Amino acid sequence: MIIKKICVVGLGYVGLPLAIEFAKCYEVIGYDISSERVAFLDQHRDPNGEVSSDLLRESTARWSSLEADIAGSDIFIVTVPTPVDSSNNPDLSFLVSASRLVGSFLTSGGLVIYESTVFPGCTEEVCKPILESVSGLTHGQDFYLGYSPERVNPADRINTISKITKVVSGCCEQSSDMVDSLYQAIIEAGTYRAPTIKVAEAAKITENIQRDVNIALMNELSSVFNELDIDTFEVIKAASSKWNFIPFRPGLVGGHCIGVDPYYLIKHAANHDIATPLMTSARQVNEAVVGRVVSRVNRLFPNRKPNILLMGLTFKEDCPDLRNSKAVLLAERLSVCSNVHAMDPFVGESVSDKYEIVSDFSGAPYDCVIISVLHSNFLSLDPNFIRELVLPQGKVFDLLNGFPTIKDYSL
Ligand SMILES: NC(=O)c1ccc[n+]([C@@H]2O[C@H](COP(=O)([O-])OP(=O)(O)OC[C@H]3O[C@@H](n4cnc5c(N)ncnc54)[C@H](O)[C@@H]3O)[C@@H](O)[C@H]2O)c1
Repeated sequence: MIIKKICVVGLGYVGLPLAIEFAKCYEVIGYDISSERVAFLDQHRDPNGEVSSDLLRESTARWSSLEADIAGSDIFIVTVPTPVDSSNNPDLSFLVSASRLVGSFLTSGGLVIYESTVFPGCTEEVCKPILESVSGLTHGQDFYLGYSPERVNPADRINTISKITKVVSGCCEQSSDMVDSLYQAIIEAGTYRAPTIKVAEAAKITENIQRDVNIALMNELSSVFNELDIDTFEVIKAASSKWNFIPFRPGLVGGHCIGVDPYYLIKHAANHDIATPLMTSARQVNEAVVGRVVSRVNRLFPNRKPNILLMGLTFKEDCPDLRNSKAVLLAERLSVCSNVHAMDPFVGESVSDKYEIVSDFSGAPYDCVIISVLHSNFLSLDPNFIRELVLPQGKVFDLLNGFPTIKDYSL
């Protein structure tokens, strides 16, 4: 296939780095529904902090929120969000509207690849019919269809897009060949060719469910060990001395992937009358961690409203993303019975009126310091300095064991 123009639809954590990589080899138009986001990119700024200003300045990719700019593309790569709604049902609205848009610009011989995380069957059963009905074309005959799940890890500067093996798949042999050779041009680590789109979709969701279930096990173990006054992180260290122990750790499972993707399979399985007791209870265990921390803190200060410093609000370390952050939920839930100051080097403005965002330690001494996200900025602090932020009888609740020498409690 001679490639004229690649259009990346959705320029977030996944789409922007991908567009930048493809622009090294091909003409690329990056389309995003958000004109605000496009304006930032035109000023060589990525609010997500994934792509540097230098890379944006050097890139030949063009950014647009005008649908007309998509015209003339022969390859479309869809990287729009796939969240859940308030009942944890898959919200496919972004995928549906992006498919309608792509369908309206799809021409004969074109290739459409989805990268968004979905349940197995979604690309062929939900997206493909939209592409066909809007374009009037038939897949496998007039246009080609593929799925290649994204594995980028936000804020990871080592395992960047080209260094991670890419799973590729297509709806037919020819589609599969096209998707494979396209990604081989940019992925140094190479590609893995899944036999079908469904296998590729299921592989992605399996990777994330495996993490969710394993973290849930550690969270459940930690809830037992906390009550028995046993340090879970010391247990993990000791158990890790066995050759085949896998050192998963307890944690707040937030963000838009691990805490969301399992619902895509759980709900899809339920629609097929298939029970998923293990995955479902893993979700419940992980969703309950914030409540556990709040009740432990409330038990420490039964008769008064303590002053608390919460260090870290984003969903993971060194990443500005606040979506589905359990640290944000923790701040909100704690603020019911405590005065909460929240500090995060990635969060400048207020996210809630229930607690105060602070940028320095002038509110010390506190009754309790809770370290909820291990940002590098925090880890570079002297542990004794953190200890001195609390009153003599105060407590350091170091959820993820970043400061084992001075902590009173961890998960
Ligand atoms: N962020 C990750 O680390 C990661 C990793 C692997 C897979 N994924 C999956 O990749 C997909 C995208 O995730 P993300 O984190 O990049 O999301 P994101 O929210 O960072 O970016 C999505 C972008 O798509 C835009 N958008 C929404 N609807 C659109 C439309 N109809 N047309 C054009 N643009 C539209 C939004 O404005 C946003 O800029 C999701 O399915 C996610 O589960 C994400």
